[in-house]
Amino acid sequence: MITPFATIPDDGSPLRVVVVGAGGMGRAWLRTVQESPLVELAGIVDLDLEAARAAAAAIGHPDLPVGAGTAALASDVGAQAVINVTVPAAHHPVTTEALAAGLPVLGEKPVASTVAQGLSLAAASELSGQLFMVSQSRRYNRHLFEAKRLASSLGTVGIVSAEFFKAPHFGGFRDTMDHPLLLDMAIHQFDMARFLLDADPVSVFCEEYNPSWSWYRGDAGATAIFEMTGGERFVFTGSWCSPGQETSWNAAWRISGEQGTVLWDGDNDPLVDSTGVPAEGKGSDPGQEIAGSLRDFVTALRTGSSPMGQVHQNIMSLAMVEAAMLSASTGTRISVDAILEESYSQAVLTERDPGLLEVLKSWTSVRGALAGELSR
Ligand SMILES: NC(=O)c1ccc[n+]([C@@H]2O[C@H](COP(=O)([O-])OP(=O)(O)OC[C@H]3O[C@@H](n4cnc5c(N)ncnc54)[C@H](O)[C@@H]3O)[C@@H](O)[C@H]2O)c1
Repeated sequence: MITPFATIPDDGSPLRVVVVGAGGMGRAWLRTVQESPLVELAGIVDLDLEAARAAAAAIGHPDLPVGAGTAALASDVGAQAVINVTVPAAHHPVTTEALAAGLPVLGEKPVASTVAQGLSLAAASELSGQLFMVSQSRRYNRHLFEAKRLASSLGTVGIVSAEFFKAPHFGGFRDTMDHPLLLDMAIHQFDMARFLLDADPVSVFCEEYNPSWSWYRGDAGATAIFEMTGGERFVFTGSWCSPGQETSWNAAWRISGEQGTVLWDGDNDPLVDSTGVPAEGKGSDPGQEIAGSLRDFVTALRTGSSPMGQVHQNIMSLAMVEAAMLSASTGTRISVDAILEESYSQAVLTERDPGLLEVLKSWTSVRGALAGELSR
């Protein structure tokens, strides 16, 4: 089920958007917005006005309106939607402000810094009646879609594995952050596994470790075993300091079922070896990465269709990360429901907006609310 949201019927003109966050990824979004006929860039917001002006100049529009406040600039320039590409800590305040101002939001992953903040944003989307979609860009990949289609020939799927081995020297915040692999990267593969299986996580056992030669302060390696709602096991093994024979940024995948196997190296067409017959629909193209999620967002706003990454559906990917980190730090198997319940209690405890508190309190179960079972 999808959570209902207000649509903006197509009047023949592109959707006017402001981009919030003019950092590295913000500039990638600005280029994508520029190239899309579906949207028109109306302004750039950043706390650092110089960064906003420099980004406007970099795309050849030095006179583009810029500002430090999202709702204020959006109102000044008549924007119809917001693209939030700020740092994770700013996802919650910026998206809350935009939704309260009646603006739909397309936000970068992760949904927020914590699952608790993500729940607050789901409530804000319900209260405002505005769409909040998280751009989980690695879902928008035609090879991934094809792997999922081919996996429909496997009968019951038992095991999915994703191996991620890279050796980048970022030289920035990732070198010193806690949990660099799980927090900054693995969320993509966790989310892709949910997509491939059409399943959600039940529990996880995870170990994090830092190889002796690692150039990261936090643990750069992890292995996590998830039980999923269909009974499948999803096994992620990754390292951010493994030179030689590196995998794709998407990871290398094996989907194993009762009638065969799908292999996908993350970069090329997936391969199938199965006695079953896959579903029809070869060639369906979701678009490529953030251009695909931008198209999904605008199509949803125009038609009311269900986009991938609507906040309620996306939160479970961050819950997988939090559960894996807790498992690694406690050495125990962690139930994802426990993470959801704890996050819900925290969200209720910290919510200051009476309207949002009322929405949160109206949920009879977190999993039910995230599945779109509205109790109001
Ligand atoms: N999908 C992907 O593959 C991918 C890749 C890289 C980054 N990202 C995501 O994109 C987001 C941004 O990452 P980045 O690398 O561009 O970060 P960055 O630090 O380069 O830029 C963030 C910008 O946001 C601005 N900002 C911070 N708080 C703000 C606020 N309250 N209001 C307005 N502006 C604010 C900062 O001044 C900065 O200019 C993160 O959520 C990150 O996880 C996604």
